[in-house]
Amino acid sequence: MNQREIIQKTADYIKQEFSDDSSGHDWRHIYRVWQTALYICNIEKADAFIVQLAALLHDLDDWKFNDSEDGTPLRARNWLKSLNLDSSTIDAVCRIIERVSYKGAGVEDKMDSLEGFIVQDADRLDAIGAIGIARAFAYGGYKNRPLYDPDSSPQLHQTFEQYKNSKSDTINHFHEKLLLLKDKMNTAAARRIAEQRHEVMIQFLKQFMDEIRNADFSPPT
Ligand code: ADP
Ligand code: NI
Repeated sequence: MNQREIIQKTADYIKQEFSDDSSGHDWRHIYRVWQTALYICNIEKADAFIVQLAALLHDLDDWKFNDSEDGTPLRARNWLKSLNLDSSTIDAVCRIIERVSYKGAGVEDKMDSLEGFIVQDADRLDAIGAIGIARAFAYGGYKNRPLYDPDSSPQLHQTFEQYKNSKSDTINHFHEKLLLLKDKMNTAAARRIAEQRHEVMIQFLKQFMDEIRNADFSPPT
């Protein structure tokens, strides 16, 4: 198989694996990350084979849907092995997958390759803007979280454990993650796209809080 056929075969596999997701991690999320990563990759002149494999496989072992405690991307590695890829390609892709996820506002990013920076930016771009808003509430619903709870406030998590175990409302998630992503982009191309998507979230949150306030007719105490 040539590289093109390997990418197509991986896309077919992932499309089938993610076909019935309703948490915002459906095939179309993976597809957008793949295409966005390819767009940034062309600008950055990175290795498009590694970028595409990592983009396609990036959520297959996600901690949000798997019990794997140590974050090793077992399923992705097995898939790559089944394609008989050389070990340096497999290791480069798995290194990216292990590091791609957001782990809390105060937790240091460990991504260490240009290809990884690109995939991480593409994934983060899909978490912000109008799509990001839709995905956040889809994920909140999937996790039985309230849209908004006036009695809880955002936490800037300092460890992955805290972030992982948080059960707070989806509006808090904007302050705990989504609004911080614009300044965490690795590449200039992603930063440009993020600026505009960030503004969409700011407008949305302003309108949301205005409507919340207007719905509150209780007399002042
Ligand atoms: P990451 O691996 O960086 O979390 P994903 O591709 O898995 O990236 O996407 C995470 C998606 O899940 C985002 O769209 C985000 O809004 C949503 N999400 C994650 N945690 C929460 C949460 N606590 N509340 C609402 N949405 C969440
Ligand atoms: Ni993702």
